[in-house]
Amino acid sequence: MAVQVALHEKKRETWAPMIQFPKDFLWGAATAAYQVEGGNIHADWWRWEKKTGKENSGLACCHYDLYASDFALAKDLGHNAHRLSVEWSRIEPEEGKFSEEALKHYVDVILALKARRIEPVVTLHHFTNPAWLADSGGWENKKSVAAFLHYSEFMVRALAAYVRYWITVNEPTIYFSHAYILGVWPPQEKSLWKAWTIKNRLAEAHIKTYRLIHKIYKKLNIPKPSVSIAQHMQAFVPCTPSIKNRFATFLRHQWFNLGYIDMFVRHQALDFIGVNYYSRQLVELEKWGFRNLAADVCKNNHHPVEKNSLGWDIYPEGLSDLLLKLKKYNLPVMITENGVCVSDDSRRWEYIAGHLRQMHQAMEQGVPVTGYLYWSLLDNFEWDKGFAPRFGLIGMDYKTQQRTVRESAVKFSKVCKTGILEERSHQLLG
Ligand code: FCB
Repeated sequence: MAVQVALHEKKRETWAPMIQFPKDFLWGAATAAYQVEGGNIHADWWRWEKKTGKENSGLACCHYDLYASDFALAKDLGHNAHRLSVEWSRIEPEEGKFSEEALKHYVDVILALKARRIEPVVTLHHFTNPAWLADSGGWENKKSVAAFLHYSEFMVRALAAYVRYWITVNEPTIYFSHAYILGVWPPQEKSLWKAWTIKNRLAEAHIKTYRLIHKIYKKLNIPKPSVSIAQHMQAFVPCTPSIKNRFATFLRHQWFNLGYIDMFVRHQALDFIGVNYYSRQLVELEKWGFRNLAADVCKNNHHPVEKNSLGWDIYPEGLSDLLLKLKKYNLPVMITENGVCVSDDSRRWEYIAGHLRQMHQAMEQGVPVTGYLYWSLLDNFEWDKGFAPRFGLIGMDYKTQQRTVRESAVKFSKVCKTGILEERSHQLLG
């Protein structure tokens, strides 16, 4: 009997459907400078951590020094792409004074990726600003756009020869809502008016930087780059199918997921769509009202799903729904972030496999997804939540700076190396 079961299991394993991804697919992980580098003393966040007494980012993962060995680990794990950000406050620690040393560092970083045949995806703004910009009003100040363009020009000229994929701004909606509506990130404002200003300013910054990057490549006679933002998208799901809930769901999807995308497509300022996807929001309106439409969520456990260690719903099916909704734009899509913080690493692999399945489903239905970048390569500094959440494929011991490659990273590496997700193997073997 036991033998029969084993045979049966084995048969199921060999018959199991295999999911195959395209040969030239980009596989890898994402990071952001402030979260991994350590010692970003000229950034607004650095000062804010000190002022508020929040957990300090300190040395973080010392990735500023250890990038080469970290990339060697990524290479061993079969990654052929890597998303990173360059830190504006290092490049321009004082207004108008550009650091050749920091510039050389980032050139070395990109060359270290290229030497390993890992395709860099470079973000110019990932939540942090130079302290001097914050002192002059940050993005509220009209001059911020010109300052960002100035810095971007400096960076892009230096890296153009090696970089094809650019992300101008990471998650502009999350940035302005956390910093200017919820007031939980610097500069901790709670003003709809200011948020509106910042929203538009970031849009202007993207559109102008998009054009600038293309102009630089043209002038240097380098093949066209691919430029986008990394847009945070959520699966908005009505808790009950009431008119209120469905209407709010529709609005939130339009505003939060597609608002910027629609605008940039209209301005012909998007070469692909960078999607950061993590979670679901269950929409349940208490009453009609502007704030309710924008923000009310279900407070009961009506449709329970597993959660990550920050309490975010785990909802892989939302990814295929979202991707299908992007089909109308006729643009390539890259998953620029998708990941989970959990204490039990086996749940990380389940999360990844579940999302890859959903991504593949959408691809089979014609959505041109070109890459998947897991958040994150390493455990890192999760903004106002500090170091507790563990998002990494590679675990960090922050005391010793020792890295440990997790089992989930090894499982993911099989997909990166073969382009094949074996549907059942993790259940049978694990
Ligand atoms: C995203 C951010 C990224 C990281 C993950 C968990 O919103 O872009 O920096 O914090 O969430």
